[in-house]
Amino acid sequence: MNLEDKIQSIFPDAESIPAEFRLHSPINQREYLINGELRQWEGETESAFSPIYVNAPEGLVRQLIGSFPLMTEKEAMAALDAAVNAYDNGKGYWPTMSVAERIERVQDFAYRMKEKRAEVVKLLMWEIGKSYQDSAKEFDRTLDYIEDTIDSLKDLDRVASKFVIEQGVIGQIRRSPLGVVLCMGPSNYPLNETFTMLIPALIMGNTVVFKPPRPGVLLNQPLLSAFRDAFPNGVVNIIYGEGRKITPPLMSSGKINVLAFIGASKAANVLKKQHPKPNRLRSVLGLEAKNAGIILSDADMSLTIKECILGTLSYNGQRCTALKILFVHSQIIDEFLEKFSVAVSKLKCGMPWEKDVNITPLPEPEKTKYFTELVEDAKNFGARVINEAGGTFKETFFYPAVVYPVNSQMRLYREEQFGPVIPILAFDEIDTPIQYIADSDYGQQVSIFGNDADVIAKLIDPLVNQVCRVNINSQCQRGPDTFPFTGRKDSAEATLSVYDALRTFSIRTLVAAKDIEINKALITKIVREHKSKFLSTNFIL
Ligand code: G3H
Repeated sequence: MNLEDKIQSIFPDAESIPAEFRLHSPINQREYLINGELRQWEGETESAFSPIYVNAPEGLVRQLIGSFPLMTEKEAMAALDAAVNAYDNGKGYWPTMSVAERIERVQDFAYRMKEKRAEVVKLLMWEIGKSYQDSAKEFDRTLDYIEDTIDSLKDLDRVASKFVIEQGVIGQIRRSPLGVVLCMGPSNYPLNETFTMLIPALIMGNTVVFKPPRPGVLLNQPLLSAFRDAFPNGVVNIIYGEGRKITPPLMSSGKINVLAFIGASKAANVLKKQHPKPNRLRSVLGLEAKNAGIILSDADMSLTIKECILGTLSYNGQRCTALKILFVHSQIIDEFLEKFSVAVSKLKCGMPWEKDVNITPLPEPEKTKYFTELVEDAKNFGARVINEAGGTFKETFFYPAVVYPVNSQMRLYREEQFGPVIPILAFDEIDTPIQYIADSDYGQQVSIFGNDADVIAKLIDPLVNQVCRVNINSQCQRGPDTFPFTGRKDSAEATLSVYDALRTFSIRTLVAAKDIEINKALITKIVREHKSKFLSTNFIL
């Protein structure tokens, strides 16, 4: 069968799905968590469809995997009230709890979460079409992130459990929570990226209103009881529905202290503007990126091809960190194009449960149309698709299109495609990619491929001031999670990493007193008799 035909018959028969990967019944989620109660939803719901179709006598049928509540402003405000009450202007049980006790609650949540691994991983796979292997990786990476966050907080707390005496002033400096966090993660990493904000926000003593992305809702259903049982009432509240309907009232209430959002800048900017007291709002944002790969004439070709394939096409290119445009030196462009196309042709296409599958169906059905438009637009301005069957699609499945030569007239030159379309340009002068990056609205990462220490060093110095991570002979990526993840320009606000996120979701606060006898006696009594949780030298081992 030729490649085109293979793509046309990419979707399976229902019987061929291995039993262990089947979803036996749809998840019709009606429960939602507000103020520690799992309430029953009686209102309107939205159907959740998988990106996967199956062959049926009537033709291809998109798989219905469940449904979830389409809430209204009323429930959103109830969730907000619960979070506001649980925070209680910083007097609440959770924000005043000792760090050690909060750590215990998060640890308890992690144990409960671990028990749900099989269910969550399977739902992740069905809901967003991520391969089973990568879905499992996303789950395990999230649990590791929670463990590492706990360790990092213990370190932070140990340092803060001592007094500082400076210029005749005694001080104890700790980090305190900020208030109520509205937490919204993206659909490409609905579990991991959401939890890299949610967990640090919680562990630092904030209370949360959490709205899962669509798609990316159902995989949270097995975790609802863990949230309810591990955290005090009102600390975690979960709402579902259309973001543009239920989030504006939250923001315009002025009661959200932190907007933690990973997604499109357009949506983030609208939300930020709705807050009536902008100075009270801290924004933690992960937004668009158009990371470039710069392939120099002396690059190690096989290493470069391998990393560029991973960079452009892992999870079908649906990563904010993906390489979204490749600049290749004109001396090696022909060899690069040929070898890159061959490497693309070797990628395994199929359903997410297939072992070692690379290219899978896409969760947003309108995306194949969008990619086709991008490719057509590039063709109109003189590019062509250089790989066999590039851009062929069937329903939600889109076969990667390698597009060359791309120029500044094309949409692909600037737009973040977020999918399996790979724009390539040839360059002679290194200023070409450098200027591209300088002119870009985005500033997340870059990858440089080459072998000359002098040349690479000369590129590193200007590029670190344009983006936030320069990768050498390596694809762009977020991990390891202990490394800072951020961006310049329209790519991000604030920094996330195991350690940075603890800082991002808190503020330094101190108790200070002039170093005089009366104060020394007071502080000694408070500390010795464990009268305060903040002013204390207790530390966690
Ligand atoms: O969507 C963006 C993610 O943060 C990318 O993370 O580089 O680990 O795939 P990753």
